[in-house]
Amino acid sequence: LAQIDYPSNRLANVADLAVNEPMDIEYPDADSPGVLLKLGEPVEGGVGPDSDIVAYTVLCPHKGWYLNYNGEDRSFNCPGHFSRFDAEAGGQQIWGHATQNLPQFTLRVDNNGDIFAEGCSDLIFGRPSNVL
Ligand code: FES
Repeated sequence: LAQIDYPSNRLANVADLAVNEPMDIEYPDADSPGVLLKLGEPVEGGVGPDSDIVAYTVLCPHKGWYLNYNGEDRSFNCPGHFSRFDAEAGGQQIWGHATQNLPQFTLRVDNNGDIFAEGCSDLIFGRPSNVL
């Protein structure tokens, strides 16, 4: 992994999330769509009282198509060339053409339950460096 730090940005509050219902977010800026997701059981990189809240880019690391979330098997799926990524395993690629796993946003929850993104596990598609 190549952890990248970006400025802290409030995404939502834990009270805003329902299990397995992804919330659209933009991070670290408006050109970078993603989802915030409560999975209902502790997972890799999960934060919050249940260690189950994660966030990912939805730009496929292969060629940047928009990924769709499948709540049945909790995976992100690419309509471009069918790569698949595991939301419960840090964005690990299940199948496909990408040469990296799905970048996961680094989250922090404060005492009020506000959820902040503060970085990313790897470079987001289309960004050659750690520059906004
Ligand atoms: Fe997603 Fe090619 S853009 S697999």
